Amino acid sequence: MEKMTVAKLREKKNRKERITMLTAYDYTFARMVDEAGADVVLVGDSLGMVVLGHSTTLPVTMEDMLRHTQAVCRGVSRGMVVADMPFLSYQASEEDALRNAGRFLKETGAEGVKLEGGRSIQNTVRRLVESGIPVMGHLGLTPQSVHAFGGYKVQGKTEEAARKLVEDARALQEAGCFSLVLECVPATLGKEITEALQIPTIGIGAGKYCDGQVLVLYDALGLSTDLHPKFVKRFAGLWDAGIEGLKRYMSEVKDGAFPSDEHSF
Ligand code: KIV
Repeated sequence: MEKMTVAKLREKKNRKERITMLTAYDYTFARMVDEAGADVVLVGDSLGMVVLGHSTTLPVTMEDMLRHTQAVCRGVSRGMVVADMPFLSYQASEEDALRNAGRFLKETGAEGVKLEGGRSIQNTVRRLVESGIPVMGHLGLTPQSVHAFGGYKVQGKTEEAARKLVEDARALQEAGCFSLVLECVPATLGKEITEALQIPTIGIGAGKYCDGQVLVLYDALGLSTDLHPKFVKRFAGLWDAGIEGLKRYMSEVKDGAFPSDEHSF
């Protein structure tokens, strides 16, 4: 299987071929996502919620992200691995951002990083790109700003907010981002930004006109039981299948059916 690259993602946009992206946080799920054929495997800071049990992504640390990105990289051979830069790993200074982004490429094998924000991080993005680090942007509902937004709400609903997001998107492209995640914006705005940019847009709750789509793996597999945002579709029922299997295990241990001779030495 041919390795996915930044250039191939751009070619996909030009050919109007949809890009697939999913999150993964460990070796086994990364292998599953890669074998299923995801173009991009994102080690999202959503791991703070679905893996570590926090209520937001804010407590996630560089060490959390590095450890999980290393595990994911061991499981992926075709997809491009992109690592989320956690809260406060790139906002305080361009130097911090460069050193932390560089650690992902140097210490994990990730091939790019993702940062949240628009014009306010344009110079930082430029600095990373000039240093040879592929950067994916992230606009709209950027979860690291959840408290500033007052909750997980659809963004870009007014004309003025939409115009600002289009300007932010152009600024990120101009700074050298190779792609852009658009989260929770009206489908019409997703379309407008996708048509305005040469780089591919990857939507999550941003409608069908984006160049690609991303979902949190645990949502797509039906492993998340807490939140059900409107944009989530479950493509499997692993939670229910898991509970059913585990209950069978309990019952077979209790009634002596497991282990049988077949599972004994
Ligand atoms: O952290 C994450 O999983 C993300 C995706 C939802 C885009 O940023």
